Amino acid sequence: MALTYTSRPMERRPLRAPKGVEDVYGPEAARWHALEDRFFEVCDLYGYRRVRIPVFEDTELFVRGVGEATDVVRKEMYSFTDRGGRSLTLRPEGTAGVVRCFVEHHLDQAGLPQKLAYGGPMFRAENVQRGRQRQFNQLGVEAIGVDDPDLDVEVVALGWRFLADCGLEAAALVVNSIGRPDERAAYIEELRGFVERSGVAIGADDRERLRLNPMRLLDTKDPAVAEVVASAPRLYDHLDVESKAHFSAVLDGLEALDIPYTVDHGLVRGLDYYTSTTFEYVSTSLEAAQNALGGGGHYDGLVEVVGGPDLPGIGFALGVERILLAMDAEGAAATDRSTADVVVLQAGAEDEVASTARGICDALRRAGVRSDRPYGGRSLKAQFKHADRTGARFAVIVGARDLGAGRVTVRDLASGAEATVATDDVVAHVTAATGAERGDP
Ligand code: HAM
Repeated sequence: MALTYTSRPMERRPLRAPKGVEDVYGPEAARWHALEDRFFEVCDLYGYRRVRIPVFEDTELFVRGVGEATDVVRKEMYSFTDRGGRSLTLRPEGTAGVVRCFVEHHLDQAGLPQKLAYGGPMFRAENVQRGRQRQFNQLGVEAIGVDDPDLDVEVVALGWRFLADCGLEAAALVVNSIGRPDERAAYIEELRGFVERSGVAIGADDRERLRLNPMRLLDTKDPAVAEVVASAPRLYDHLDVESKAHFSAVLDGLEALDIPYTVDHGLVRGLDYYTSTTFEYVSTSLEAAQNALGGGGHYDGLVEVVGGPDLPGIGFALGVERILLAMDAEGAAATDRSTADVVVLQAGAEDEVASTARGICDALRRAGVRSDRPYGGRSLKAQFKHADRTGARFAVIVGARDLGAGRVTVRDLASGAEATVATDDVVAHVTAATGAERGDP
């Protein structure tokens, strides 16, 4: 396949990242890692194991799994034909891929439920705005293979506890049940008839939704259609006793765990695989159009749609960028932005000074203390500036004069207090001091 661009070798125009994708660097990158690490720690607490799924899949997986009527499949997929003529798509979400992995590798044989956690970039060709990118990052879990309202509670609770850990106080949980497809079938026809009879003018986009899946109209952006839909019959009233009992058991479970929620029977999720319990975590600190920190629900037909056995599933995904925006908006838990605990400085250019500094830095690192050196033979003043930039708590200053006596100086960069320490005792001194700082016994 021929490349469709030409590159002029002499051109030096600065290149920029494509629209809707973001670089993450500096202290912000550390913040991301801390957030992701914390998420997987919480997953560990709940028994969800990591799964790493591919970034691109056969297009058919998303068409079948996510659904032809969804905005994601109709308008937002990054699909391309590879050199072998196959249609591939950059994953717009993770559930379809996790379920494909579950089916392909017969994970059901390893016991049910399979509780899986994942994260990484997802791709949707959306209108870019604050909190809505074309490449964005999700953290999610999927619990596949067992239908138990208590498992729904566990999944919802996991996401909720993680958001609380992030210090997000303006987060709220909205829950709904959208029942099974057979319960929805009659309702969908009723809704279609109701909207058509209302005589409201319907734009091309909503007309397509009405044709493919009228439930998507509950999510319309057209205020006139929204008004009609608001007075339409409710899906919840069409659910049978069993579905309602499942939902009420989920609500009971949430209450038992002191997780506050609001029931919103108008909550529709943007993907077609959902059944039964659905939910969203929203933040009142974000603009309404992008206020979903995450969402999820049951997808009881998806395993079969992907070619596996008839097994239920439930999960959620959180948007990392949205969580960080909400944390900023709330001034929530600032993460440690420092890149070192100790910086080893050199007062003098003598070989012995450099080799001692190198040795101390190495010994500190091997003892598990984050340590750095300024490098480049800079003035002591410039080295202190470097230490400051790393956010380090201590500077070890290696100087020719002290070295003769087998000593170095350790300065507490916060208080300015200095101690003279035998070269061989630096690691013990610093680990004791940084340990005390962390509150270690
Ligand atoms: P979703 O609601 O499409 O669900 O996405 C989940 C979260 O990803 C959203 O609530 C939002 O925080 C974030 N997100 C989505 N699109 C963007 C975007 N363009 N820019 C920034 N953030 C975005 C799913 O993807 C389902 N797979 C969740 C799930 C898992 N359901 C069951 N299991």
